[in-house]
Amino acid sequence: MQYSWRGPLDLKSSQTVLAGFQRVYREHGFGKWALHLRATNEFVGYCGLEPCPAGAPEGFELGYRLAPRFWGQGLASEATEAVVRHIFATTQLPRLFAFLEPANVASVRVLGKAGFQRISLGTRVNGKAMDIYRIGNGGLSSS
Ligand SMILES: CC(C)(COP(=O)(O)OP(=O)(O)OC[C@H]1O[C@@H](n2cnc3c(N)ncnc32)[C@H](O)[C@@H]1OP(=O)(O)O)[C@@H](O)C(=O)NCCC(=O)NCCS
Repeated sequence: MQYSWRGPLDLKSSQTVLAGFQRVYREHGFGKWALHLRATNEFVGYCGLEPCPAGAPEGFELGYRLAPRFWGQGLASEATEAVVRHIFATTQLPRLFAFLEPANVASVRVLGKAGFQRISLGTRVNGKAMDIYRIGNGGLSSS
């Protein structure tokens, strides 16, 4: 949770966050998806969208979080590419955003490989200085 603007969460706060994910899914028909390993069906983490927070560009932001034992196996990259492809194939959204702290090197790589481009540096989002990334439908950055 080092790079989560919410910080570490207790069980009750985690349940509130999860309820928020479910509400987004009900309202929009998409949201954060649970990730499961194909081979064993083990729960790995999540990847998907939620509305951008206040102060950020209007639209939806991509987020992902995997249990540490699954890091470094290409799973976040695979999930991100699948989510981006699915959203642009099934919705009219023209672009997606992502916000991250530049020190989160793994996350920078995940976004770069999926075709996101950095559009601003050190923007205050959720009380933290974040770099903003964007991808347009078709894989090209669009305004
Ligand atoms: C960020 C996160 C989702 C990456 O998941 P992952 O499945 O390990 O990512 P991948 O295996 O797809 O790796 C992506 C790239 O990052 C690199 N990478 C992974 N961990 C790294 C690390 N600790 N330091 C530097 N690079 C790293 C990989 O080598 C890979 O690059 P490559 O394809 O050029 O080799 C995972 O670390 C995580 O859940 N972190 C905590 C939550 C978080 O930070 N979420 C994002 C908030 S913006």
